Amino acid sequence: MDIENIRLFVDDRPEDGVFRVHSDAFSDPEIFELEMKYIFERTWNFVTLESEIANPHDYITTHIGRTPVVLARDAKGNIGAFINACRHKGATVARMSAGNAKYHVCPYHGWAYDSSGKNVDIKDRKSGFYAPAFDLDNHDLLPVARVGNYRGMIFASLSPDVPPLEEWLGEMRTMLDISIDQGPQGLEFVPGRTTYTFRANWKLQMDNALDAYHLTSTHTSFMDVIARRRTGEGNLEARQYDWGTRGSSTGGMYGFANGHSCTWGDHGERIKRPIWPMINDIRQRVGDVRAEWMLRLRQLNVFPNMQINDAAGVILRVMRPISVDLTEMHSYCLALKGDSAEVRTRRMRQFEDFFNPGGMATPDDTVTYAEAQRGFAAPGFEWVDGYARGAALLTRDNELSRELGLQPAQSAEGAWNLFNEVGLHEPYREWARLMEAGLAGRKAFP
Ligand code: FES
Ligand SMILES: [Fe+2]
Repeated sequence: MDIENIRLFVDDRPEDGVFRVHSDAFSDPEIFELEMKYIFERTWNFVTLESEIANPHDYITTHIGRTPVVLARDAKGNIGAFINACRHKGATVARMSAGNAKYHVCPYHGWAYDSSGKNVDIKDRKSGFYAPAFDLDNHDLLPVARVGNYRGMIFASLSPDVPPLEEWLGEMRTMLDISIDQGPQGLEFVPGRTTYTFRANWKLQMDNALDAYHLTSTHTSFMDVIARRRTGEGNLEARQYDWGTRGSSTGGMYGFANGHSCTWGDHGERIKRPIWPMINDIRQRVGDVRAEWMLRLRQLNVFPNMQINDAAGVILRVMRPISVDLTEMHSYCLALKGDSAEVRTRRMRQFEDFFNPGGMATPDDTVTYAEAQRGFAAPGFEWVDGYARGAALLTRDNELSRELGLQPAQSAEGAWNLFNEVGLHEPYREWARLMEAGLAGRKAFP
């Protein structure tokens, strides 16, 4: 395939019922470079939750695509994002994943910056005989072009040419609200995070989180464990769902503008949801329609780098692509501010149980991504067919979306075992749109 015709890497023909993605999109290093340039560096990326930098001088370090970034709260409480690269010779100035620092002193030659990114000291400046031009120049950390805060979720963009954050999130805000509003005071990270890597393209994680189709084949050992728990064996603090009760429930997806999407499923055992003990209060506070949505299982994908899995617990995952076949993941346990100790404990046991390298699902998934990556590299393997389940059910919207006042780009709804794959159409449409705009020299958001 010719990269100049990047749009053709997503074979998107709704009139013919066809949606396929070319395997080079996962395996070609040149395409990876273009993704960094035209997607990650030209759109909003999720950075962190505001609760991670609650106090003056708190900071975290992260990446937007390949760019190291430090996000800090200054003395006045304002949040700023900066390229984590010293103006002297480029070394990263903040090297811990998180901390509290009034000043960031570069370990290389000792230039110092305050928590607003301002250069406050150049080591041995007086004895350096700098020319006047140097003194006139600005040596502050380079600010990231845009920082936005949606209800405590901090996003940033390296490009100034992006729509306001709320407009860019668009309809996805409703789905985020359904997670945030479960507690009267919103969400926070439970301190600590898990970091791991997998040897595959970042989009395999994007796909897998919206793919319930693999559950009954990839995670069979987990299902066996669950079945044993129901007879009183093993870690009873964690999940004991009865998969059998799901057979009669429904599931579906919504795709939204700008590449965001959500898959959902109803659940037979609502009493196992962490919010069940508070459900009457929740109904009074947010109304029946939203309370019902809070009881559904939801997988949110905020394109390109953030996912929320709101099921047994609430887990937030952030993808950091490192190379075409290497991805770093950060995963966080989310909880409602003001949770009781009992509910908090249960959330943490659920978080450890299924996800993360020590859990019973993530290793199954990440090994499978690496195996898919091997398959994609095979000469002659061209089209990935895994975007077709549910295509015959696609509609613009449906009763549930209208009830919620949601305006999706497309919807699908069916039995629980529909396990649709069409929730990935909007993410790949946005992928193709941004890649094409970049290659054509157009702005990402005209
Ligand atoms: S690179 Fe930071 S002081 Fe030299
Ligand atoms: Fe999985």
